[in-house]
Amino acid sequence: MTDVQTSGGESSRRVAFVTGGASGIGRAASLAWAREGVRILLGDVDDAAGEMTVKDIQSAGGEAQYVHVDVCNEADCINAVEQAVKLYGRLDIGFNNAGITGSSHRVGRYPLNEWRRVLDVNLTGVFNCMQAELKVFEQQGAGVIINTSSVIGQRGTAGGSAYSAAKHGVIGLTRSAALEYAGRGVRINAICPGYVETQLVVGEQAGIPSNVLDEKIKRIAARRLGQPEEIAAVVVWLASQAASFVHGSAVDVDGGYLAF
Ligand SMILES: NC(=O)c1ccc[n+]([C@@H]2O[C@H](COP(=O)([O-])OP(=O)(O)OC[C@H]3O[C@@H](n4cnc5c(N)ncnc54)[C@H](O)[C@@H]3O)[C@@H](O)[C@H]2O)c1
Repeated sequence: MTDVQTSGGESSRRVAFVTGGASGIGRAASLAWAREGVRILLGDVDDAAGEMTVKDIQSAGGEAQYVHVDVCNEADCINAVEQAVKLYGRLDIGFNNAGITGSSHRVGRYPLNEWRRVLDVNLTGVFNCMQAELKVFEQQGAGVIINTSSVIGQRGTAGGSAYSAAKHGVIGLTRSAALEYAGRGVRINAICPGYVETQLVVGEQAGIPSNVLDEKIKRIAARRLGQPEEIAAVVVWLASQAASFVHGSAVDVDGGYLAF
């Protein structure tokens, strides 16, 4: 039995720690879980947006708290997980989702400091959170981890070698950890979103020029960008008992992008 059921009193309601929860996919997953009664500890570096998401969850009748977490900082991740356990008495789900695209350069010209930053947030950040979560999950003999990779974790993208390398790494990390922890009651999977309408893709700081995005959309079978809620729905399912036999998978949620 890997997943803890939601039924019962306050203390048996599941608890999720969500990184990158202030915006986009992490925000949508937090709102969706909260609607199911899951209690949320929402971590991000964007404190204003994080607090706003928590307010939105609370206004909708859900339970959530915000904590400043830079996933590159090991101590932040450990502290956040400890805080979740202190606040709610348990932790059931780790959604390791914070990510950045980084700037676009050919490999031969990719600045080493930018390479390190992109790998640090997207890959080492997931590792840092998993280490903190797995300490609790091993003790409980139960828990679910979902790591956010990308379709670019299975394909190359011109100009985005650091992002692609990091997201490929997330899948390798997920599969290896799934093998190590399945026998310890912990289920570990990754999701691979396609192109989703969030700040990362369409925001002012987005790394994808609009003409490139138009070309990408032509390659999506659904001929449109995904919505964060469409990714969140799969994340919520992956964390549920309904997905009890799903271990070590990289689940595509991409409007058919990888079907080509
Ligand atoms: N939007 C897409 O098309 C798409 C596609 C595939 C994968 N993804 C992945 O989905 C995840 C969520 O992205 P999104 O699209 O919702 O983008 P987003 O920009 O809306 O959300 C990302 C969140 O991560 C936070 N963040 C960034 N660096 C952080 C750090 N060091 N520590 C903690 N938080 C940090 C940001 O403040 C932001 O709130 C990312 O891992 C991204 O790579 C997105």
